[in-house]
Order: sequence, then C-alpha cells, then structure tokens
Amino acid sequence: MDKKVLKNLSYGVYVVTSSYNKKNAGCTLNSVMQITSNPITIAISINHDNNTNKIISYSNLFAISILKETSDPKIIGEFGFKTSKDTNKFKNVEYKLIENIPIILDSCGYIICKVIDKLETNSHTIFIGEVIKADGFTSDKPMTYKYYQEKLKGLTSKNAPTYQKEEQINEKSNNKKRRWKCKICGYVYEADELPKDFICPICGQPHTEFYEVTN
Ligand SMILES: Cc1cc2nc3c(=O)[nH]c(=O)nc-3n(C[C@H](O)[C@H](O)[C@H](O)COP(=O)(O)O)c2cc1C
Repeated sequence: MDKKVLKNLSYGVYVVTSSYNKKNAGCTLNSVMQITSNPITIAISINHDNNTNKIISYSNLFAISILKETSDPKIIGEFGFKTSKDTNKFKNVEYKLIENIPIILDSCGYIICKVIDKLETNSHTIFIGEVIKADGFTSDKPMTYKYYQEKLKGLTSKNAPTYQKEEQINEKSNNKKRRWKCKICGYVYEADELPKDFICPICGQPHTEFYEVTN
C-alpha cells in the first residue's frame, strides 16, 4: 500500500473546544467534515487519549473554531502538542464563551454542535454533532492543512488520525544548510546557526529544545 497517496486528501485546521463543570478543554484538529445538510451535521475524530474527548463525552457539546491563514501559529502548537489535562491552554489566547464553550477569536468563526451520535474505533471516537449555532468573524482565508504543512512547516501530532510515522522523518534537504528540529512539534529550522534567542514558531519552545538533524 502506498500510504503517500493519503496525503492528497484535503483538510482544514481547527481548534475544537468543549467545557464541563467549568473545565475548559480543546485541541487542534484537522479531521472535521460536514456530513449532512438537513439537519446540518458534522463529524470529528478525536483520539481516546485526548482530554478534549473526555470533556466532549461529558458535555455532549463541542465548538469548532475555524483557523485562518493569519491565525497565530502558536495556537496550533499550544492546542496540538500539549494536553489540557495539565495545561491551561486558554491562558495566552483570546477567547469568548458562547454557550459556555470557549471560542478562539483569532479565527474565521465558529460552529457549535450538540452530539447526536458517536462511533468508537480502536484509537479514535467519531463524534457526530448537529449544528446549533454558527457565526463568522471575518472573510479572511481559512487555513488549509496544506498551508499549515507547506507554508508554516508544521507537522502532525501522533494523535491525529492522519499521522504517518515517516512524515516525521524530514525529507533530505538539497541545500548545504544545517538543520535543527524541535523536540516537541518537529518543526525544522534551516540555517548556518541556530540563534540563541530562537523560539519555535509553532509551539513556542526555546532553542534549547532543538536538536541538530544530521542525516
Ligand atoms: C495539525 C494537527 C492536527 C491534529 N488533528 C487531530 C485530529 O484530527 N484528531 C485528534 O484526535 N488529534 C489531532 N491532533 C492532536 C491533538 O491536537 C493533540 O493530541 C492534543 O495534544 C490533544 O490535547 P488534549 O489532551 O488537551 O485534548 C492534531 C494535532 C495537530 C498539530
């Protein structure tokens, strides 16, 4: 099987949030898809290990904040490579509570769903939600997964359904520059030197969390 073909499937980049007993949770997701139009329903796929999965199961509500190309990439890193089990991911991000769920304001807009069904797989729960509220903040371009990968040089987290191990092995670079890789999110920085004040543009780690790639 040529798994590379799967990379031709298109996605967007979203932050899915939920809240239960005043505990907010949220994670970066690419697996969001409208599945019917009457009523409007949406399916999302969330790993069993994600805290957001647990909170959605309790609250039966989730919100999708649709990231735009100009959204701060650190939102993707904060929500995609850390867990809300032990981190307050909302500390440094502007949000507004709608239906008691935090909505990321640096986005195109949001869709709120009530869970009407779910399907368990080995690794992920597929929640099916009926849309109960939706609104747009701006007509800026939504971020596609391709944009995240090619322009922001972002990688997939191992809990994403689209994760492929070999993706994390970076293709060999043709130029002679040295390369450093972020231990947390896999972002690769190419240059002659790694500056001491370098901060990972995706997940905000300092230069000490980078190691040199020698292959
Ligand atoms: C670009 C990107 C896309 C992702 N897509 C998904 C996804 O569709 N489903 C999923 O379960 N995890 C996905 N993840 C991984 C979760 O965001 C990650 O496991 C997160 O740390 C879970 O946080 P939580 O424990 O607070 O819920 C993705 C991560 C990134 C960076």
